Amino acid sequence: MNTPHNEAKKGEIAPVVLMPGDPLRAKYVAEHYLKDVKVFNTVRNMLGYTGDYQGKRVSVMGSGMGMPSIGIYSHELYHFYDVDAIIRIGSCGALNENIHVRDLILVQGACTDSRYASQFELPGTYSAISSFDLLEKAVNCCREKDLRFHVGNVIASDFFYHADANSAEKWASVGCLGVEMESYALFMNAAYAKKKAMTLLTVSDHLFLKEDTTPQEREKTFHDMMEVALEIA
Ligand code: HPA
Repeated sequence: MNTPHNEAKKGEIAPVVLMPGDPLRAKYVAEHYLKDVKVFNTVRNMLGYTGDYQGKRVSVMGSGMGMPSIGIYSHELYHFYDVDAIIRIGSCGALNENIHVRDLILVQGACTDSRYASQFELPGTYSAISSFDLLEKAVNCCREKDLRFHVGNVIASDFFYHADANSAEKWASVGCLGVEMESYALFMNAAYAKKKAMTLLTVSDHLFLKEDTTPQEREKTFHDMMEVALEIA
C-alpha cells in the first residue's frame, strides 16, 4: 500500500507516530533515540522512520509546515496506515508574559484563522482539542521530570507573516498561550478519524518579550520534549 505522499507498506508504521515539522528532526530523533530503525518514507524528503524505544515500537515522521501539509500526512496515517495516535512535537512563539523561551506548552486546544474546518460543513464553530488521555500522561510526565510547562490554548495560524501587526495581541487577549501553524488541522483530522492526537511545543521565540537562548539550551529543551513524547507514546 502507498499513497501519493507516503511509500510505506502496510505494517511498516507503528500505531503511534511522533511528528516534528522538520523531516531532519525526524531523522535526528530516529538516530538518537530509536534502535533497529527502518526508513519507511522518502517521498518529497518527508522522512519517516520506525524503530524501538525501550521495547516499544514507535514511528517518527516530518509533517512539513502549516495545516495543508500536516493535514495530508495525518489523514494518510490515520486512514491508510491504521495509526492510532499522532503526537506533534513542534515549536511556537509565546503570547503570554508568564511563558518564556524554552518552556514547554502542552496544547489542550487550538483556535485557528484557517478555513480547515469548512470542509465538514458543520453548523457552527469546531473546537479542536488534544486527546485527554495523552494530555494527562504528558502532564504527569512533565511533573515527574520537574519541567517548566504550561497547559492551554494556542492559535494555529495560516500566517507566519501576518499583515495585521496586532493579530498576536488579539489572540493573546483571549488566553492563547502560543502561536504555531499545525495543531488545529491535526486535532480535527484525529476527531474525524476517531483517533488520538496531541501537541507538545517548545517555545522558540517570544512575540512580546526580548528573550535569547543559546543553541545548547535549545538542544536541551528539545531533548526534554522528546523524552516526554517518547514516554507517552
Ligand atoms: N509563528 C508561527 N509559528 C511559529 C512561530 C511564530 O512566531 N514560532 C515558532 N513557530
